[in-house]
Amino acid sequence: MTGQDGTSPQAPAPYVGGRVSRIDGPAKVRGEAKFTADFSPADLHPSGLGAPSLVHALMVTATIASGRISGTDQAAARAVPGVLDILTHETPGLKLSAVEGYPKGPAGTSFLPLQDAGVKFRGQPVALILAESLEAAKYAAMLLKIEYAAQPFRGTLAQARDGEPLLGRETPEDLQHSRGDVQQGLNDADTRFGAKYETPVHHHNPMEMHAVTAQWEEGAEGKPKVTLHEPTQWMQSSQGTLAKVLGLEPDDVHVLSPYVGGGFGSKATTWPHLLMAVLAARHLNRPVKLVLTRAQMFAAVGYRAATSTEYQVGLDVQGRLSAMSLKAETQTGPVDQFPEQVGTVPKMLYANPNMEFTHDLIRTHAGPNIMMRAPGEASGGFGLEVLMDELAEAAGLDPLEFRRVNHAPSGQDPESGLPYSSKHLLECYERGAAAFGWERRSRQPGSMRDGHTLIGWGMASAVYPVYSSPATARARMKQGGQVVIEAGSHDIGTGTYSVLAQIAADALGVRLEQVTVKLGDSRLPKNGYSGGSRTAGSVGSAVLAASMALRQELLAAALADPSSPLAGATTDEIQARDGGLYRSGSDQGEPYGTVLARMGKTEHEAYREVIPNEGTPEDLEKLLKGEDGSVEAIAKEHARYSWGAVFAEVRVDPDFMTPRVSRMVGVYDIGQVLNAKTAESQLIGGMIWGVGMALHEETQVDPATGLVLNSNLADYHLPVNADLHQVQAITLAHPDFLVSLLGARGAGEIGIVGTAAAVANAIYHATGKRVRETPITLDKLM
Ligand code: MOS
Repeated sequence: MTGQDGTSPQAPAPYVGGRVSRIDGPAKVRGEAKFTADFSPADLHPSGLGAPSLVHALMVTATIASGRISGTDQAAARAVPGVLDILTHETPGLKLSAVEGYPKGPAGTSFLPLQDAGVKFRGQPVALILAESLEAAKYAAMLLKIEYAAQPFRGTLAQARDGEPLLGRETPEDLQHSRGDVQQGLNDADTRFGAKYETPVHHHNPMEMHAVTAQWEEGAEGKPKVTLHEPTQWMQSSQGTLAKVLGLEPDDVHVLSPYVGGGFGSKATTWPHLLMAVLAARHLNRPVKLVLTRAQMFAAVGYRAATSTEYQVGLDVQGRLSAMSLKAETQTGPVDQFPEQVGTVPKMLYANPNMEFTHDLIRTHAGPNIMMRAPGEASGGFGLEVLMDELAEAAGLDPLEFRRVNHAPSGQDPESGLPYSSKHLLECYERGAAAFGWERRSRQPGSMRDGHTLIGWGMASAVYPVYSSPATARARMKQGGQVVIEAGSHDIGTGTYSVLAQIAADALGVRLEQVTVKLGDSRLPKNGYSGGSRTAGSVGSAVLAASMALRQELLAAALADPSSPLAGATTDEIQARDGGLYRSGSDQGEPYGTVLARMGKTEHEAYREVIPNEGTPEDLEKLLKGEDGSVEAIAKEHARYSWGAVFAEVRVDPDFMTPRVSRMVGVYDIGQVLNAKTAESQLIGGMIWGVGMALHEETQVDPATGLVLNSNLADYHLPVNADLHQVQAITLAHPDFLVSLLGARGAGEIGIVGTAAAVANAIYHATGKRVRETPITLDKLM
């Protein structure tokens, strides 16, 4: 890329790696960026005139957790002026074809709404009110009577585990893991220790509500077409699922998702409300808009499942792990089988020859669960990293020293035995300890004070797997030197627009302002799921490949043309800079517009498909068919992870036992940082979420009714500015070219991993109270 040649005085500083503000920031700040609920039918209509007027939809959800609808009384609701119709399971013509949910399809998709009278979970969508105004729909919802025949249910993990489970317990074979001889390792151990850790249900709560605007058109040859605006992390999943349930061609489902106001996993699948809105658009032959309420966001669009992890561990005389047995029980919903993968981190993070991991999924009447920021790594990492703090104390070692003693060297990934693509965890420990001042920590709990206030210092390791996907992109050069980048991917608030523009600007030697990035349209070059911290590395690699191809083709045209000032030069003498192609260290060359003009073209474009390292052509084929072609963390040749260490300081008032996080330092080895500003924002955001996990967040489900009691942002507690003081994220500079062309691994999720444990460990250090469950509220410290 331009700028890597440090010897040339003309080489500009590259954008990649710099602190670049979001290119979509001004549009968002000014309110010009349109999110799903901002779109009206006129936006989609060619002239903006004569568009059919919008129907407002309101979702009605079940008030029992299990049973069936015994009857409805719709008369009063239907009599409300402006009400057009009410869709229920009794409405004819709403039949949908079954789809497979996780693990064969996207998580959470296999429950289809309005198909029968059955109620499988509290908050299940059971009716859709359609009206000329939202007010009419809301009033009708108050008058709509639905009668239920309720049955016993299990709304929580504890209810399903401790009573008769009702929906059962499953032990999926692919989740279980065993190596060595755990019993022998425990027998041989110098020290044995056991403990159990628990985490509750969490909800994603992106700022932007789930929403959809759907239009149905009977196409010219009777081939129907659907157009929808939807905030999604996976347009291809919506296309594929809708096509299957409605019997359409995926290409006849057009998904638009230019801006997404956060997703965190909850917007990575096709939920019932989307299907209902599309059914309604077909039913009325008018465009339909549906926006969920915040309370409905706690019912029908996924959650992080509650978990319980129980360890038995042995240590040898030097404090090294000799065996680990881990029994996990996690909650899942009544349909699909999505595991909260609490074993991912304990299986691989530390050197340990003997491991036995068993994982049971326990079904509850709580709606389908789904991935939520670092799914399993955050919840499983909490137990493991508190356990490590407890073990360090049992071994008489400093918590950081204990982790160094148990560090797994490269070439010996404990789970696979493979070499790492790149691992600088020891450097994370060292840099973090130095930045935090860890050597000034006194060992004894309760021994550090600031006046009356107890001070506690804790730390934890962080790790997140590398997922990568095949990706495709198009790069177009226009006459004036403007570049257009097109990729059917998503910016879920992470900075994708900016990062892709940076990559293209560097590759082509143009200014950032000359690059326009187009995302969030399913008709753009196909890309996969924006989750698992993969988008920047995967789609960025395709943008790099397409941009480099475009540059090469324009360069080849210039070199071959006798009238070009570059005629006869060789490729390696040429730099892409200043909006054109120039000889290194000289002014000789020409702008791209001149090259295009001599080619007799007003624009030129290149399209590239990229298979990630250790991926296969079949992975690309899957992507092009609309399926998930992910390459997993443990690939054939390398174990691929990002690494980190997080240090936290808490201050606890000993009279009230109120913990406050006064300082955090996280150091992250995430490969090449593409944008220092957005990466830092991602990491700090993850760390803050970890504070929420440690101290605040918990979805409270009433065991008597299955109702979520705190389904709003006043009662579902999140850390706010007053809860946070200094938060610092530091990144190391070790590009990992074994995972991507860009050397980048991804910043989205690792920040939350380990953070809750670092806070819990700091609370123990301050108070001597060991709390093995989150959130650590003050009642648990009394
Ligand atoms: Mo994420 S939980 O991969 O959006």
